[in-house]
Amino acid sequence: MEFNTSWASPSNIALVKYWGKKPERVQLPSNSSISFTLSHCKTITHLKYKEGTDLSIKVTLDEKDEPSFIPKIEQFIKRISHVFPFVTSGEYEVNTTNSFPHSSGIASSASGLSALALCICDIATKKGLLNSKDFYQTASILSRLGSGSASRSVFGPLSVWGEHLAFDGSSDEFAIPYTNASAIFNNYCDTILLVHKGQKSVSSSVGHNLVDNHPFANARFRQASQNMSEIKRALESADIDKFIAIVESEALTLHSLMMSSNPYFILMKPNTLKIINAIWEKRKISKEKWCFTLDAGANVHFLYPSEDKEMAIQFIENELKQYCENGAFIHDCVGSGPEKIA
Ligand code: PMV
Repeated sequence: MEFNTSWASPSNIALVKYWGKKPERVQLPSNSSISFTLSHCKTITHLKYKEGTDLSIKVTLDEKDEPSFIPKIEQFIKRISHVFPFVTSGEYEVNTTNSFPHSSGIASSASGLSALALCICDIATKKGLLNSKDFYQTASILSRLGSGSASRSVFGPLSVWGEHLAFDGSSDEFAIPYTNASAIFNNYCDTILLVHKGQKSVSSSVGHNLVDNHPFANARFRQASQNMSEIKRALESADIDKFIAIVESEALTLHSLMMSSNPYFILMKPNTLKIINAIWEKRKISKEKWCFTLDAGANVHFLYPSEDKEMAIQFIENELKQYCENGAFIHDCVGSGPEKIA
């Protein structure tokens, strides 16, 4: 039998960061994390799957063959095969496009692997192996096995992954939607300032592994847990000052863990720091509560409430754009999660 399915799944940006995996099982986080689900930065994946006895995989990105994705998909299939054994054989045709430029330096693993996981869950549903009640939780489990942060892309507007007492129902195995934030956060803006569009010098899987023997690991896990409790309070009471203090500290902590691992490395670029300083300077001289966060790379996510959009765009044009590679940035905002495409 042949199955066709299409899903659009967004990227997400962590507010409290996942950095480090528990050693005992595949892809379990050392600490819990929470993210904004994005709206415009997404991957659209069409999967044509034909049942068969052998495994074959064809992948296109933007309608061009992309054999370099095949090993990652093979690894993904192997990791999810205990959930759905049918995946290990058959003919896969994966046609995928990203709404953001491939070479923008924006990681496509969260959107890409969650889109593929959703397609697989759709096929499992059609085969009678998955019911609608478990659909998104299973999609989050599969996404996590592809890329940890992808587990959070399955839900919006915010999503929590990793067991934490303050978040009912939270789990290391899958993410859950977090819908209790004050309304202001449900349409928060994130302009991604593209400081460096090339490939990162160190992948996040290498970075996660370096946390295993990191001298600050345990203190970091305790801090992340405390920040999860505190950000929950800040999100629910719309305490933007507290929100900013946690989010910026988390971003810099992520990068200081990289700078203090063995071997150490730096993913920020001089212009990353120039943007951070410009945002701090702006906050000092005006009442705007704007802040930044960072992913595992040099680009800066500039975060601001949607009611400040016009002024923030002016600030980007006048002061931040000069630090972006070829003046490039992407306006995004918090979104509601993946969509099935008819
Ligand atoms: O999902 P991975 O393995 O690419 O790890 C992502 C880690 C960070 O993006 C740096 C933080 C996070 O929580 O998303």
